[in-house]
Amino acid sequence: MWVLGIDTSCDDTGVGLVRDGQVVVNLVASQVRLHEAYGGVVPELASREHLKAIRPLTERALAEAGIGPKDLDVVAATRGPGLIGALLVGYTFAKGLAWTLGRPFYAIHHLEGHIAAAWPEGLSPPFLALVASGGHTHLFEVQALGRYRLLGATRDDAAGEAFDKVARLLGLGFPGGPEVERLAREAEEAIPFPVPLREQRGYDFSFSGLKTKALQLVEQGLPKPALAKGFQEAAIRHLAEVVLRAAEDTGHRVLLVAGGVAANQALQARLKEAGLQVHFPPKGLSQDNGAMIALAAYRRHRAGFPPSPLALGATAYWPL
Ligand code: KG4
Ligand code: ZN
Repeated sequence: MWVLGIDTSCDDTGVGLVRDGQVVVNLVASQVRLHEAYGGVVPELASREHLKAIRPLTERALAEAGIGPKDLDVVAATRGPGLIGALLVGYTFAKGLAWTLGRPFYAIHHLEGHIAAAWPEGLSPPFLALVASGGHTHLFEVQALGRYRLLGATRDDAAGEAFDKVARLLGLGFPGGPEVERLAREAEEAIPFPVPLREQRGYDFSFSGLKTKALQLVEQGLPKPALAKGFQEAAIRHLAEVVLRAAEDTGHRVLLVAGGVAANQALQARLKEAGLQVHFPPKGLSQDNGAMIALAAYRRHRAGFPPSPLALGATAYWPL
C-alpha cells in the first residue's frame, strides 16, 4: 500500500512516499537560502516557492519510487497549523490529486506528523511525546492515535526558535540549531546560564530568558563557543527537567522526541541517560517533511479512521 504525504506548512516543501508503513522516498525542497536575506520566513514568498516546487517534487518522488500516480492508495497533506498561504498550496494540490485518482484523502495535523515520525512500529500508547521545533515546544500525553492530552507548552519562544535567535546573536547561519551545536563542541567549558522555570510544578517551557542572557553575554564580549555551550546546556537541561517531571508524575516510562530540535545530539545523549525508554525520529525525519505526514495517514487508514471530507479547508490555527 502506497501513501503520498505532503507538507507545506512553513518554508520547506516536503513530499514523501511510504510503502506499507516504510519510508521509501522523502524529498524536501528547502527555501532557507531564499528567506535568509530577510532574517525570517516571508509568508508570501514561501507560498510562491511551494507553488513552483510542489508538482516537480511530487513527480520526482514518484519517479524515484518507480511508481506512477495511479499506484497511490492514499493521499495525505498537512492541514495545519502553519502559514495559511503555504499550507493551502500542498493541501489543495493533494486534495486535487486524491479527487482525480479517486483515492481516500487524509488531512493531517502537522504535530501528529512529527509524532508519527518518531513513533516506532509496534509501540503501543500511552506514552509521552515532546515536539520541539522552530514553531512548537509541546509536551503531550499520547493516549492513542488521534487522542492527545497537552501537558505543557512554551510560554514564549519555541526551543528551535531560541537556538535560531542565539545563533543570529553569535553571527551564525540559519537554521541555528545545528550551528550552535557545532560551535558548542569547540568549547572546553560552558558559561553557566540559569535553567528556566525551575520553580514551576507544571510542564511549561520558557526560552526567552536564555535568549536575553545570551545577548548580555555577547555584549560583554565573552567567548562564543563557551557561550553557545552554556546556552545549549541550559536549554537541554530545561527540556529534560520538564519531561522527567512529567514522566515521574504520570508514571510513563516511554518518551518520543520529535521536531527539528530532536536532531540535537547533546539532547539525545541527555535524555538517553535519564532512564526512560526514548525514541527519536530516524535521520532526515526530525525536520519538516512529507514522509511523516504519509506515516500518520498510513496509521490512520490502517486503524480504520474515515478519510477527511474534501470540503474541509486548511487552517492556520488548530490545536492537536
Ligand atoms: O521541525 P522543524 O524542521 O520545523 C518547524 O516545524 O519549525 O524544526 C526546525 C527547528 C529550527 O529552529 C532549527 O534550528 C532546529 O529545529 N534544529 C535544531 C537542531 N537541528 C534543527 N535545534 C537544536 N539542535 C539541532 N541539532
Ligand atoms: Zn514542524
